[in-house]
Amino acid sequence: MPRVPAFAKINLGLKVLYRRADGYHRIATLFQMISLCDQIEIEATRSPETTIELSSDVEIPGEVGDNLASRAARMLLDEIGVSAQVTIRIEKRIPMGGGLGGGSADAAAVLLALPALLGERVEVGRLAGMGTRLGSDVPFFLMGGTCEAHGRGELLEMLPDIEGLHGVLIAPGLHVSTPGAYRALARPQEAELTQGAKDAILGRFRALVGSVYRREPPEVWAADCENDFEPVAFAQYAQLESLLGAISATGAQPARMSGSGSTLFGIYESVEAAAAAEAKLKGELSGHATAMRVEKFHTVSRRHYERAWHTALSSITDGASWPPRS
Ligand code: C5P
Repeated sequence: MPRVPAFAKINLGLKVLYRRADGYHRIATLFQMISLCDQIEIEATRSPETTIELSSDVEIPGEVGDNLASRAARMLLDEIGVSAQVTIRIEKRIPMGGGLGGGSADAAAVLLALPALLGERVEVGRLAGMGTRLGSDVPFFLMGGTCEAHGRGELLEMLPDIEGLHGVLIAPGLHVSTPGAYRALARPQEAELTQGAKDAILGRFRALVGSVYRREPPEVWAADCENDFEPVAFAQYAQLESLLGAISATGAQPARMSGSGSTLFGIYESVEAAAAAEAKLKGELSGHATAMRVEKFHTVSRRHYERAWHTALSSITDGASWPPRS
């Protein structure tokens, strides 16, 4: 069975501007793909009727048919007008509800793999349209690497890859509800914000993107990494703030929360510094809940991502249908 990787993301910066009329929020974020990944085994054979089987080594909340990966499979088949028997097995390594985009990464992996398995060519723009319907950050996982995102998170601008950065993350085992976190921000509607207020909210974010665009090292842009969800997450779970403090104390630059939480991460100047920080944090946190995980990671560039997929699918495609291009 072909086995494909579904890499997680962190948000190096995340600003929330206002509540839109459609209930979503206008955000500005810098997505970075990281090496922590789920492994997805997926098989598809054309058949008169569509069936989708999904299993996982850990329990994924909700109905099978309701899972983002199953929904992605059904949507893709409906879109291209093909019926098939699809079997998906997920080896879950990305903590769920942790702000690392695990469910979206799995959905994107299904959108990318299924056309190749069925010998169909689906342009990336069309996949992105389906991705947006599945979840705001699914389109990012079709791209990988380093991307600036606007709108509700689906409008992407590729940035030069931040290559070879090493980090450590703490996944505290707390499930944060994304809609609840947005509600807790209590953002105004767009009409209540002046252009000056919007510019002020985005000032540091624009500086961050500029630095990354110029390929400056993390110590230059670390102070411009802001996540608007930190105060609301810390108000709900005070231990998150102390965990972030523990990461900062190991010399990480930046040290931040990812997405709406609860995962916290730090970036280090070398692989050795990240390994030392991992060991120190594991030692300090050994008495904590067993659900807590401390793990090293490295950034995954777009090139690395495409290579990983080429390798995974090389036995079933001639390379002509992957990666998809618009
Ligand atoms: O897009 P996704 O399905 O991942 O979003 C989950 C929920 O998070 C939305 O239903 C919405 O309540 C909230 N959200 C938001 N603004 C965004 C993204 C998500 O309000 N930009």
